[in-house]
Amino acid sequence: MTEPSAQPPTEQMITEITNTATAELDSLQDLEAIDQWRVLYLGRRGTLTTVLRGLASLEVDQRRTIGALANQVKNTLEERLEVRVRQISEEALTLSASRDRLDVTLPGRPALEGRLHPTTQIVREICDAFVAMGFGVVEGPEVEWDHYNFEMLNIPKGHPARDMWNTLWVDYEDPTGEKAMLLRTHTSPMQARVMENREPPIRVVVPGKCYRYEATDATHEWHFYQVEGLAVGEGITFADLKGTLYEFARRMFGEERKIRFRCDYFPFVEPGVDMSIDCFACQGEGDGCRICRDSGWIEIMGAGMIHPKVLEGVGYDTEKYTGFAFGMGPERIAMLKYGIDDIRHFYSNDLRFLRQF
Ligand code: PHE
Repeated sequence: MTEPSAQPPTEQMITEITNTATAELDSLQDLEAIDQWRVLYLGRRGTLTTVLRGLASLEVDQRRTIGALANQVKNTLEERLEVRVRQISEEALTLSASRDRLDVTLPGRPALEGRLHPTTQIVREICDAFVAMGFGVVEGPEVEWDHYNFEMLNIPKGHPARDMWNTLWVDYEDPTGEKAMLLRTHTSPMQARVMENREPPIRVVVPGKCYRYEATDATHEWHFYQVEGLAVGEGITFADLKGTLYEFARRMFGEERKIRFRCDYFPFVEPGVDMSIDCFACQGEGDGCRICRDSGWIEIMGAGMIHPKVLEGVGYDTEKYTGFAFGMGPERIAMLKYGIDDIRHFYSNDLRFLRQF
């Protein structure tokens, strides 16, 4: 790289450089311009550096005086540069502080607050009621084997009771040709799964999602939640089932609730019942009530004493153990509790609906 040829410097040259440089420096307003200034005067090829380089061509005594002067000027310029940089930084800071000054009297912007989905809320409320009575909470697979969803629940292949559950089958090529996969139609398959893995006494509730091949309308969704309940042990009777569910109804729907059982059929319980509570909207009066449709009663779940076939299926001694099971739909319970008229609201993700809970 060729350096610009250095002229022999004079005192006058140096004074001129000093004057212009300081004047310029004082007029600069930002750090970028100041850096350009630094390169221009003090940089490796800057004006002053070039002058210093020219010292070599001077007589010895001249070199001494002019050299001393040049060095002094260099130091002065460097000092002034430093001062100016500090000044400008401070000015910028004060400026931005005054520009961005907080007005603490301005009202705050409300933070968007999320919340739990109404189904989650009601599922938790249901589970809490049972947890308070000593039940544990377990969950199970939504993609299930035919074996657990039907067979183990005393619903063999070809059994007409299979028509009670419109099933979404999963395309699954089983090498043995025996296993079929489906989306569980209820949480009841967890009855067998839990019993296979534990010894009585058992007390669990099983919240979870279920699926059915269903045309949707105001009371039917193709996916929905259930909360299953299971209690197995020595000497468990129908009175325990009634007492447990009665207590649940009171916790969930109020101290005053009455309950009613009617015979119902589910292949995995015997006897099987459906349970209703007296309508909390009309206090069981019925007349003209749209919640209970005039009947005074609201059906909230299926239940029953576990069928001996189911207990045998998991290898339990049916002479020793008995138990009860129940299953309910939390969306339906939420609909009753909050007067929601269409189950499809739950999963249409309309914030106007969801924000109400
Ligand atoms: N699994 C049943 C259903 O989905 C409900 C049920 C559960 C009934 C447990 C009795 C005992 O309809």
